[in-house]
Amino acid sequence: MNHMNKKFINKIILGDAQEILPQIEDNSIDLVLTDPPYFLDKMDNNWDHKKVSTITDYCHVVKSLPPGMKFDKEQGRNLYEWYFKISKELYRVLKPGGFFFSFSSPRLYHRMVSAVDDAGFLIRDCFIWLYTQNQPKAMSLNHFIDRLNWDKKTKTELKEKLRGWKTPQIKSCFEPIMMAQKPCEKTFLENMLKYNVGLVNTNVKIGEDMFPSNVVTTESMGENIDKYFLLPKPSKEEKGEFNVHQTVKPLAICEYIIKLTTFSEEAVVLDPFVGSGTTAVAAKKLGRKFIGIDTNRKYVEIALKRLETIEKDETIQYKTKNIAQQLTLLETQGKYITKRKIRKIK
Ligand SMILES: C[S@@+](CC[C@H](N)C(=O)[O-])C[C@H]1O[C@@H](n2cnc3c(N)ncnc32)[C@H](O)[C@@H]1O
Repeated sequence: MNHMNKKFINKIILGDAQEILPQIEDNSIDLVLTDPPYFLDKMDNNWDHKKVSTITDYCHVVKSLPPGMKFDKEQGRNLYEWYFKISKELYRVLKPGGFFFSFSSPRLYHRMVSAVDDAGFLIRDCFIWLYTQNQPKAMSLNHFIDRLNWDKKTKTELKEKLRGWKTPQIKSCFEPIMMAQKPCEKTFLENMLKYNVGLVNTNVKIGEDMFPSNVVTTESMGENIDKYFLLPKPSKEEKGEFNVHQTVKPLAICEYIIKLTTFSEEAVVLDPFVGSGTTAVAAKKLGRKFIGIDTNRKYVEIALKRLETIEKDETIQYKTKNIAQQLTLLETQGKYITKRKIRKIK
């Protein structure tokens, strides 16, 4: 294990990612899996639990807009600038070939991905997390019509004309998840042998024993969708009754991504915006190492509490610590031969 990282391994660190990331060793992380602030209105890098919590108090009367609703072009620019700096650090700490998955919002995804792209990563894919349960945010204009200095009859006629016509926010039923990769050193094979990362594990199955796909859901939606894309449904216990975080991600999606991309049991999964700890819980369950960071003490405490109750799932078959320790590279006929075979040859 890298000396510099020792103090962070299997820990949830209370702090700003921008200050903690520079303390992590170069080329030492196998996977970054994170759900950063989306920069939609109040959900930025100055995340305040109280303000964000009022998101559920949303109502259809426009007194003041609830968090996440205000539309402002600065949000995308601020996200780009901030995530570009974060991504530069993530690029440095990831091993060559290491993957970087980041949840986002459909509205500002393009800004987030551009920042990651410009920081040096290869953008490999966009995963889609599908769901049906989301509150529509489109608003009727009746409230504004009532405030017009018009007679009652004209106002009523206008309301009738605009019945069903609302502000441009139809029900949002997916979240994009960026899949980026730090370029490999030499070939995929050479990179895998040296760093244990860079390939995806197609033994992982989704739905009814299907090849892994970039569409995922955790709710049953009908025969075909379930067959190809369904991951286990969140259990009542997985979040923890004490968990007041507003944007907890499903454990099954984090587990799916960790299984797809981490080869070694020694793999370190980093989440610089760990919130209530879902990524760390998934990593621990899968017998991987983790580093979690969050600025909010309350969330760090929740994450620690969730981690306390999680045991490594012993039914999972673990790979060796290092693929290169098991294989000896022979240049004979350009093939890779295992140690066992070499003994026979001798
Ligand atoms: C979208 S939430 C993550 C939720 C998490 N996926 C879960 O399942 O609980 C984003 C988190 O980023 C944290 N955050 C915001 N700015 C930060 C910063 N500069 N450094 C570290 N954490 C930050 C917030 O406190 C918040 O918990």
